[in-house]
Amino acid sequence: MEDILLGKLDAMVQDKGYPNRSEAIRDLVRKTIVDDEWTDSAGEIIGVLVIVFDHHRRELSSRLLNTEHHWEGSILSTLHLHLDHDNCLEVKVIRGKAGVVKDFADEMISMKGIKYGTLVKATAGGEF
Ligand code: NI
Repeated sequence: MEDILLGKLDAMVQDKGYPNRSEAIRDLVRKTIVDDEWTDSAGEIIGVLVIVFDHHRRELSSRLLNTEHHWEGSILSTLHLHLDHDNCLEVKVIRGKAGVVKDFADEMISMKGIKYGTLVKATAGGEF
């Protein structure tokens, strides 16, 4: 590996607190594998959808529920937090084919009344 790249790696090891270079490189390889899982539409992936919304928003809650009931993938678990008088935060662990998971997340996040939404890449971890 070139000195410049090695220097960047060592800085990364230091910054993130890895015990050694090998552990940092293992994580980078795993991240690449997960990224590949997410671009390969054939396999199943696990995603974590986070949304923040105002539950007073007319019909939003029922639209969210309706979308979930009609989705072909699996919602493994939902965590719902009532943040304050108005705002709710939901975390959903979802499983399905890559494209299907992304479409579901896009549909949920783009609904009127959703204040914030993001889809986090995760993995079942089976391949490594
Ligand atoms: Ni709530």
